[in-house]
Order: sequence, then C-alpha cells, then structure tokens
Amino acid sequence: MTTPPPIQFTNGAAYERYMGLWSQQVGQAFIDWLGAPAGGRWLDVGCGNGAFTELVAQRCQPQGIVGIDPSPEQLAFARARASTAQAEYVQGDAMALPHGVAQFDVAVMPLVIFFLTDPALGVAEMARVVRPGGLVAAYSWDMAGGGFPYALLQEEVSALGVAVPTPPSPQASDTDMLLALWAQAGLRDIATRDITVQRTYASFDDYWATVQGAPSMGARLAALSPEQTATLKARLQARLPAANAQGQITCSARAHAILGKV
Ligand SMILES: C[S@@+](CC[C@H](N)C(=O)[O-])C[C@H]1O[C@@H](n2cnc3c(N)ncnc32)[C@H](O)[C@@H]1O
Repeated sequence: MTTPPPIQFTNGAAYERYMGLWSQQVGQAFIDWLGAPAGGRWLDVGCGNGAFTELVAQRCQPQGIVGIDPSPEQLAFARARASTAQAEYVQGDAMALPHGVAQFDVAVMPLVIFFLTDPALGVAEMARVVRPGGLVAAYSWDMAGGGFPYALLQEEVSALGVAVPTPPSPQASDTDMLLALWAQAGLRDIATRDITVQRTYASFDDYWATVQGAPSMGARLAALSPEQTATLKARLQARLPAANAQGQITCSARAHAILGKV
C-alpha cells in the first residue's frame, strides 16, 4: 500500500452530507447531557462547517458563540448558515487559541480531538480560556471499538489494498485516554458517557454518493478502477444493514463523550 494523503476538509457541503448530519445526531444527546445553563459564552473548537455550532445556537440560548477551525472551506459553509448568524467564525488552531484566560463559560471539541497532533495541548487550551466553574467537553467517535460511522467502508477499502488516511491521534478517542487528558489539564468533576446514534440513508445509492465526499476517503474512491469500484460496492451491499422495503439503510455509530469543570 502507498502512503495515503492527509485528511483534508476542503468542501463544507460535502462534509455536511458525509459527517455533519452524523455529528448533529450525537450533538443533540451531548447537549442534553452537558446541561449548560442558558446565556453562556460558547467556544466551538474545530467547529468545521458549523454542524454543532448550529445546535448550540438553536438549543442553548447562548449569549455568544465563537467557532474556530483551520479550514477556510468549512468556515465558509458555517458562515452561510442562517441559523448561526450570531456566531463569530475564526480561522485558527485548537492548540493555540487566540483568546485570553477565562473568556468563555463552555468550550467544546466535537469530533476533533483525534485530529490534533498534540491532544493534551488542545485540552489545556480549552481549560485556559474557560472561566473557573465553566465546562470543557468533547465527543469523539469510538474509533477502536468500531463506532466510527464509516468503519465498514474503511475496512473494505483497505481490503482492496488501498491505504486509508487516518487522523494523527486516533488513540485520543478512547475513553481512558480522554479521562487522562482531562485529568492532566486539571479539570474536575469529570464524567464520561457513550452516545449511540442512528442515521438512515434513502438507498444504497444515497450512501454511495454520500461517501464520495469523505475528507479521508473521497479521493481514494474516485481513483479506484471500475473493477475495484464494482467489488467495493458489492462488498458494502453485502455487509451494510439490510435495506427496508423502501430501500432505506439505517446505520449506527457510537461516540465517547467527556466533560469536566475548570
Ligand atoms: C470531523 S470534523 C468536525 C467538525 C465539527 N466539529 C463537527 O462536529 O461536525 C474535524 C474538524 O477539525 C478541524 N481541525 C483539524 N485540525 C485542527 C486544529 N489543529 N485545530 C482546530 N481544528 C482542527 C478540521 O478542519 C475539521 O473541520
């Protein structure tokens, strides 16, 4: 296998179809679990195309929201969401937040921690910019336990001999590692939970079109030969959950969530 290219987030609309809708499924349960009081100042670290930011705007009655992400394409999609017109979107890095001490009531990192080359620094940065008593929280796919929504696709692409790009710190998504990171950052009242969600694709064709926009695998799928594509599609159809009478396919995914107080 050749070395895969790094994962790149260069299309906010494709991300929305591929992952944003999954993130929002988890995000709804996550927000209920956090129980953050209304009127808070929120920081959404690695906000991407604003999928989770939108939930904060709709459900948390925030006093303010800042979203930060390095991808201009993700941020452009986020800024176009009418639902987050109140949010300020900033290009930047989770490991060097451009904010002062204790500026926020809540900092969240939805589906981001495993993309950081130094996850401990990312958590320390969130703890730095949240006020004493405020919340620092995250959720992350259960990568090791098969909770990533497209784990099956990754497995079958690898089986073709095609290298699948992986994030730099996949181990940071494990609950034990998350607990260690939160403790190391000096956070207290730490709690974790698993969140299992489902998403229904209208058909196998819908699933297939959706995964073409994967930041990790889209380019690999586009480069497959017609024979490889046919093999992959047949294997996926054999292994994905059975379609219902309308041809819809319902898939499951599981995330680890963590919260702590400054
Ligand atoms: C899987 S997406 C999650 C986006 C959004 N939080 C959500 O829940 O849909 C991961 C995001 O992390 C961002 N990212 C990657 N490296 C980052 C870094 N060093 N600092 C902040 N964000 C980063 C990517 O640009 C991408 O938008």
